[in-house]
Amino acid sequence: AEIMILNGPNLNLLGKRQPEIYGSETLSDVESVCATLAGESGHAVRFHQSNREYQIIDWIHEARETCAAIVINPAAFTHTSVAILDALNAFEGLVFEVHISNVHRRESFRHHSYVSGRADGVIAGLGVEGYEAAVRRVCSLLAN
Ligand code: DQA
Repeated sequence: AEIMILNGPNLNLLGKRQPEIYGSETLSDVESVCATLAGESGHAVRFHQSNREYQIIDWIHEARETCAAIVINPAAFTHTSVAILDALNAFEGLVFEVHISNVHRRESFRHHSYVSGRADGVIAGLGVEGYEAAVRRVCSLLAN
């Protein structure tokens, strides 16, 4: 099956942006690790990043037709976007929400997520390994 991995605003700067919070690995490092991991279970990933909310919504709509699961780090849209929640509610597959940092130890405006109520699982504070954890979980659920 195909797994869509979506990344929200500013994550194109991963590795350069606040490395003390987000680490030094880049988003393309994350993409290769996830592609390899999914490939070991016979799955493929569609990996995307955008700074634009409508683009993320359009990819979620595309996933309705093409993907069994979505792994999403909505970044700042986590805390603001009812539109991304609505798009995810229109998707019938698995949804995992990933945050690189532990949002609960940060500013209070990061404590609420619009997406978590739709997610099958939420991962925060595992660094970029959170993406791998989500992909592993998707692969094990798809195997059953
Ligand atoms: C983030 C946490 C968000 O609060 C923040 O706006 C981000 C990244 C994370 O991966 O830790 O851009 O989603």
